[in-house]
Amino acid sequence: MNTSYDSIQSAVSVIRERCSIQPKVGIILGSGLGAFADSLENKTVIPYSEIPNFPTSSVAGHAGRLVIGTLAGEPIVAMQGRVHMYEGYTPQEVAFPARVLCSLGINSLVVTNAAGGINGSFKAGDLMLIRDHVNLSGKNPLVGPNDDRLGPRFPDMSHAYDPELCDILRKTASKLNTPLQEGVYVWMSGPSYETPAEIRMLHNMDIDAVGMSTVPETIIANHMGVRVAGISCITNLAAGISKVPLSHAEVSETANRVKERFTTLLAHFLPAIANVPRRQ
Ligand code: HPA
Repeated sequence: MNTSYDSIQSAVSVIRERCSIQPKVGIILGSGLGAFADSLENKTVIPYSEIPNFPTSSVAGHAGRLVIGTLAGEPIVAMQGRVHMYEGYTPQEVAFPARVLCSLGINSLVVTNAAGGINGSFKAGDLMLIRDHVNLSGKNPLVGPNDDRLGPRFPDMSHAYDPELCDILRKTASKLNTPLQEGVYVWMSGPSYETPAEIRMLHNMDIDAVGMSTVPETIIANHMGVRVAGISCITNLAAGISKVPLSHAEVSETANRVKERFTTLLAHFLPAIANVPRRQ
């Protein structure tokens, strides 16, 4: 798969030919969390298979469609489903759709995922604002020659999850009376879930939630000067904390259970950040 500057531009051109809306916010919807895209108005739906160079997902719960539309009058682009490194894609391929979204001119990217809860105060079904991340995958989507048209060789990650967007998210949740946990997310490569020993190690590192995605897209958006906000749906307690074996069925079932609360939060949060400009 080609992830060059020209491949990004050809994906952008095809999307622009299909839809004249210029999105201000992009959102990547994780496992079982895709329903939000259905609530957009004036929708154009483009299957990933119709966008040049876009990787297509093989995981249940990941629809594989780009949905462009409006929400409270604000233009939004949503990815219903993403690909993961464990499917065999390189980190550059995993992050390619985020490159395309950022190249469409969005100000902010909202990344969402299903995650295992490590923090002792978390319960399955909680939503967590991602305050920061730890990359323990050993991989980075910026490895390789740097294209200066996209961003700098050594991007700063001090505010990987933008403090201004985090504040707006806290305020939005509080206005809606939606409980919102907060914490640090770690990217593990998967696809096997973690062992209890790994979870004890992550707990000792002060990590709150674990998952197999999101970090590559966050790195790419920061590289391009696009602000990022992140929300994890804690679909299960992590290995060794949970009394039952982990399963994708449990992840999907919990994601489905929080669907409404999650969708309502996003429906208020996305329009609220639409006009926060890119970082300078
Ligand atoms: N570990 C890793 N990824 C996950 C988990 C987990 O417990 N739950 C959902 N995604």
